[in-house]
Amino acid sequence: MAVGSGLALYHILGVATCVALLYFSFGEVDLRHLSLPSVPAGSSSRAAMAAPFVERRGARLFLDGRPFYVNGWNSYWLMDQAVEPRTRNRVDRMFRAAAEMGLTVCRTWAFNDGAYNALQLAPGRFDERVFKALDRVVAEAGRHGVRLILSLANNLEAYGGKTQYVRWAWEEGVGLSASNDSFFFDPAIRDYFKVYLKTLLTRKNHLTGVEYRDDPSILAWELMNEPRCNTDPSGDTLQRWMEEMAAYVKSIDKRHLLTVGTEGFYGPTSPQGKVSVNPGYWHGNYGSDFIRNANISDIDFASIHLYPDNWLPHAKLDGKLKFVTQWITSHVEDGDKELGKPVLTTEFGLSHGVQGFDHSHRDVFYKAVFDIVYESAIRGGAGAGAFVWQLAVEGMEEFHDDFAVVPSERPSLYRLIKAQSCRLAKLRHGEGDEAKRTLSVCAGLL
Ligand SMILES: *[C@@H]1O[C@H](CO)[C@@H](O)[C@H](O)[C@H]1NC(C)=O
Ligand SMILES: *[C@@H]1O[C@H](CO)[C@@H](O)[C@H](O)[C@H]1NC(C)=O
Repeated sequence: MAVGSGLALYHILGVATCVALLYFSFGEVDLRHLSLPSVPAGSSSRAAMAAPFVERRGARLFLDGRPFYVNGWNSYWLMDQAVEPRTRNRVDRMFRAAAEMGLTVCRTWAFNDGAYNALQLAPGRFDERVFKALDRVVAEAGRHGVRLILSLANNLEAYGGKTQYVRWAWEEGVGLSASNDSFFFDPAIRDYFKVYLKTLLTRKNHLTGVEYRDDPSILAWELMNEPRCNTDPSGDTLQRWMEEMAAYVKSIDKRHLLTVGTEGFYGPTSPQGKVSVNPGYWHGNYGSDFIRNANISDIDFASIHLYPDNWLPHAKLDGKLKFVTQWITSHVEDGDKELGKPVLTTEFGLSHGVQGFDHSHRDVFYKAVFDIVYESAIRGGAGAGAFVWQLAVEGMEEFHDDFAVVPSERPSLYRLIKAQSCRLAKLRHGEGDEAKRTLSVCAGLL
């Protein structure tokens, strides 16, 4: 797990110089048009509905008639923290901090199945108190001009996950199997999940009066965080589940974009050579199959995740960076050539738990990811954006993992993230009048 050879440091210094130059190369940008007009919580539903939806046209996202490239972030804990008055202000603080960096989309959990502060207490039984917290998250996002990717279930055990659904089915005496993967094929569990989907999509926000399915501050639904089905490496079980649930979501909500939530591993049906892009041989056996999954007609865009520390534990930093470029570039190429759909890097993170970690490593890593998105944006490509895993506000260390960043505590990352927002905004608006109106967000970079 050793990181940081002399060679790697050399590389960092080189890139750091580029980063410094980058800060001076952004013109005046108006970020207001990047995102939603602010809608105060409690305002009429009409006002919220007048804001535009993000759409897909071919391999690009569009907003307001212009290509939309995302600088985004993950804060999985928003709903949970909005439940209790004591911690609620963290939601507002996070959105405010993100908006100040020009971030436009947040990916977060809209599920909590049977865990502490559960949204779903038992199959089909929901806690109104927690639903109100989610209402608040959606309304606050709109108020701060941020859009949400709402994830709908967890492959992992945190916040319930597929394990909880399987447990419920056992408890009710209807479960077919004890396997966690029966989440994907058990008819009773698939029905449970559909009840949750319908309840969520048709939920009327008590603050804005807008049903979730009609709310433009939601950018997309994500079927599941990191779906894997190791018990069927052919991928057929997972593929059938994705097709069924995608069709079900679209039968209720045709306005929002939909994605699966995959990590991007190439599976058995991949074109020749692609499987070797996986970080290791075993990653092809998780039952996920990137191109086949993303090619489902009800799926609007593909997603990949990126954890070089976990996936290549023995690589040095420069090896990890090489992988970063290969991984994203390969998938963006799939979006352009095979799928004709956008590809979003919905999680990327570098652990501070590895030996030899230095904060400058994150600067270099983030920069590498941001550059690929920016280059894709310049040429109108499928690399539609990237989401840092994960951002937090001060005083919530209990929610940190080895990847968490409090932007105000990391000035160089803060500047880097903001610089990415501003150069994407500038591309979006060109050199016209709109671009000349400076918003305070980017003024510090001039
Ligand atoms: C399901 O997953 C949980 C959590 O990873 C694990 O403890 C349990 O043993 C799994 N159940 C089966 C039947 O594999
Ligand atoms: C995607 O699906 C369509 C049918 O819906 C098929 O014709 C096409 O070959 C598929 N593409 C890939 C890359 O699998």
